[in-house]
Amino acid sequence: MSSATTAATRPRRRLPRRWRWIIGTVISVVLIGVATAGVVIWNRALLNTAGSVTFDRELAVPALAESGVEDGVRVFRLDLRKGETDFGQEKPTPTIGINGSYLGPTLRAERGERVRVEITNSLGEISTIHWHGMHVPPAMDGGPHQLIDPDETWKPAWTIDQPAATVWYHPHVHGNTADQVYRGLAGFFLLDDPATAEVAKELPHDYGVDDFPVVVQDKRFHADGTLDMSDRAFTSTGVLGPTVLVNGTPGPYLNVTTEKVRLRLLNGSNARFYNFGFADGRDFEVIASDSGLLNAPVSRERLQLSPGDRAEIIVSMSPGERTVLRSYPQSLGTNMVSNRFSGGDDTLDIMELRAAKMLAPSHAIPAKLSMADDQPTADESPAVRTRRFELSGTTINNKPMSMSRVDEVVTEGTTEIWEVTAVDDTPHNFHIHDVRFTVLDVGAKTPPMELQGPQDTVYIRPGRITRLLVTFQPAIGGTDPTMPYMFHCHLLRHEDQGMMGQFVVVAPGEKAPDKIDVATGHDSHDGAHGGDGTGPRSLAPHGG
Ligand code: C2O
Ligand code: CU
Ligand code: CU
Repeated sequence: MSSATTAATRPRRRLPRRWRWIIGTVISVVLIGVATAGVVIWNRALLNTAGSVTFDRELAVPALAESGVEDGVRVFRLDLRKGETDFGQEKPTPTIGINGSYLGPTLRAERGERVRVEITNSLGEISTIHWHGMHVPPAMDGGPHQLIDPDETWKPAWTIDQPAATVWYHPHVHGNTADQVYRGLAGFFLLDDPATAEVAKELPHDYGVDDFPVVVQDKRFHADGTLDMSDRAFTSTGVLGPTVLVNGTPGPYLNVTTEKVRLRLLNGSNARFYNFGFADGRDFEVIASDSGLLNAPVSRERLQLSPGDRAEIIVSMSPGERTVLRSYPQSLGTNMVSNRFSGGDDTLDIMELRAAKMLAPSHAIPAKLSMADDQPTADESPAVRTRRFELSGTTINNKPMSMSRVDEVVTEGTTEIWEVTAVDDTPHNFHIHDVRFTVLDVGAKTPPMELQGPQDTVYIRPGRITRLLVTFQPAIGGTDPTMPYMFHCHLLRHEDQGMMGQFVVVAPGEKAPDKIDVATGHDSHDGAHGGDGTGPRSLAPHGG
């Protein structure tokens, strides 16, 4: 006999009124509890440190890396090492750094110079150093194929051939980038260009005097002072911390001694987006995007940077005044839940600027900035083809990263349109190694002026097509199709999880291998390709 028949034939038994009352009460209490928990979680996800950060430490400025010229090559020496850093926590924080305990020195070189960087890995774990924003041969790129074993020295060398820019370096071990960057491996590489020296002279350009590198990184700490890299709940983007460090300094202030000060902003965070502005609402001049000067300065009150992005701004100060660099709530273009849990609603105080009573005079900012004849433009007529990239979950075009797969083959010297879309209503951005690109449009709209400069990383607003005009410069010293460059989401957790692909650059008519030979022993010390460390790697047999 089925229970349906039972229910239909038996007289319905009703619970005694007391029981009904108890059950009703229990259900109400549970619902109220769930709703309250929801409100608490929603409110707790919001960070607001405006006015509550004590700015009591002078901003650290990374030292300029020493270098010597040996046989016409500018040689830098970097040592990746473990250490401890005072971040104002209960105890010093175990960190890693380059030539120090946290972050690294600022490298600086001129267009046309040949450089060699000798990187010794004293970390006790495998690492790499990638030159983010640098036009560099693929075997020198420092991506996941150029591993540096513990106690080994890697010596990439190349000739600087791009306009003046603020580029940076950081490790790129596939699956371990987030961890190593979070613990402290990152630094600046400033590029100068004699062709634009006239403009450079008019801009604040005295390193550490009126021209400052400013790497902004949020951290979360355990009670014992160790770094906490656990993920923020309800978002896939990774760690979001309440403490903001600038150049590794917590609660930093910058003593300003000139009428104008240039800040080379780098979002060196794993997952956080910043919407920079000043607490007193002042405007600032944006003079450069990721990989070089804009055509002309743009006056702005806010500037949004996604992880890996850079921008250079000039702030004008009056004698004796103070103002606070702050990150304001911002729209990430996602639904409101994702916006909240990905940190988009947060307000964070970052750094105080303190102007001296007497300020040294600064030049007026030139009305025209970039004179470079290789300044990227928005002229899409030279584009030879369009490629599409769909970001979703932890994949690009539904494929997770594979070290041996060649995703795209491009020809040196050509221009292409890359159309990038994020389809999962999650914040993502997009970075391409080796190149500078222009953002043509976002959702068919021309981007604001400050996004019209040369870029290598761009925020991808969900659900809208972002079209990039990408020029693949002639390869320095010839192509090397056996070694790929990366393109990926620069939210480091997504990158580690596989939201990354590989492209190789070929000469016109040159064939690309079907597969990348992933070196098992990575003894690539002199910038050679791995394998035996001397010559090109052997390619996997076709179709194998
Ligand atoms: Cu900033 Cu593929 O890197
Ligand atoms: Cu890069
Ligand atoms: Cu992403």
